[in-house]
Amino acid sequence: MEALLCREIGDPTVPLSSSSPIVLSHSHPVPELNSPTSVRVRVWATSVNFANYLQLLGQYQEKPSLPFVPGSDYSGVVESVGERVSRFRIGDKVCSLAAYGSFAEMIVADEKDLFLVPNGCDLVAAAALPVAFGTSHMALVHRAQLKAGQVLLVLGAAGGVGLSAVQIGKICGAIVIAVARGNEKVELLQSMGVDHVVDSNTENVIENVKQFLKNRRLTGVDVLYDPVGGKAMKDSMKLLKWGAKILVIGFASGEVPVIPANIALVKNWTIHGLYWGSYKIHDPRVLEDSLKELLSWLSKGLITIHISHSYRLSEANLAFAAIKDRKAIGKVMVVMETNTQPMSKF
Ligand SMILES: NC(=O)c1ccc[n+]([C@@H]2O[C@H](COP(=O)([O-])OP(=O)(O)OC[C@H]3O[C@@H](n4cnc5c(N)ncnc54)[C@H](OP(=O)(O)O)[C@@H]3O)[C@@H](O)[C@H]2O)c1
Repeated sequence: MEALLCREIGDPTVPLSSSSPIVLSHSHPVPELNSPTSVRVRVWATSVNFANYLQLLGQYQEKPSLPFVPGSDYSGVVESVGERVSRFRIGDKVCSLAAYGSFAEMIVADEKDLFLVPNGCDLVAAAALPVAFGTSHMALVHRAQLKAGQVLLVLGAAGGVGLSAVQIGKICGAIVIAVARGNEKVELLQSMGVDHVVDSNTENVIENVKQFLKNRRLTGVDVLYDPVGGKAMKDSMKLLKWGAKILVIGFASGEVPVIPANIALVKNWTIHGLYWGSYKIHDPRVLEDSLKELLSWLSKGLITIHISHSYRLSEANLAFAAIKDRKAIGKVMVVMETNTQPMSKF
């Protein structure tokens, strides 16, 4: 089968060749069913997340031994089942999250890790949902317990996790402030009914948000959702009110911010470090309930999956370049050759 193989740690945006860090193998072994409850899935589509990019650069917390097939969340169709599989049948449409391995035509998972994609849901959307929406749902609903009327500030708001946080914030009834760079991102966020959008390219973010809060007679931000870190996060602390919650999601800026404990003490802030994938090991029920709720929201049209870039497996380097160059708006996807035409490519 075809699979993308990481042979060595390096820049995944380099054009694929026999000497690039990632290569396209045309004869990778099809993974075997490895237990009576395992299921082999023919992959339909898989997400290209910032974390996948970091992992190939050797900068992610999970470091599989080389060589490995990268990838995390995916959707597909059940191709074969182990003898004790009870929840799925051949032909079912499923989605899931893997530690690695989804940049391939086939992947094997235990049935407990698979989710049935509701009828009528697009399989590319189902592949885009788990990491991005799962992280934001866990952070905002489970951890911060965001309430109607609270002020939510989302940094990196037009990225994969950012755009999902904005939508979940609106579903919770929060007043959502979004920060993103450039007209195209700002216009999309405005079209989604975000209460206030700041273009970090042209505006002083802190002064602009302060003015918005003043105009709306609001005293500050209740919940900060931060996938960016660095200066953006440091500055945003000036907007947080007494009792605020900080959701530490990621460091797309490349800089891990320092949150002074003395200020957290005086202002009664709660800092939530969130590593969504680790719930699969430590609290799988919470992750399961969260993804089931999100899939039902998707089927009811309550959330929209915005995909700005879609590529073939053989174009994976371009997909990683879209992430690296901050071009992604919403999600970047790899859709398998045999399944469908790519939807857009820039
Ligand atoms: N904790 C978890 O469980 C979890 C789960 C998923 C993702 N994450 C983390 O969350 C972060 C975002 O992931 P994602 O998949 O949403 O990525 P993404 O789609 O590439 O979005 C990242 C956003 O960050 C902003 N950004 C600001 N400074 C940047 C810089 N120097 N380089 C790149 N982007 C920059 C960009 O927005 P502008 O260009 O508009 O500024 C971009 O839209 C990553 O660090 C990822 O590892 C964590």
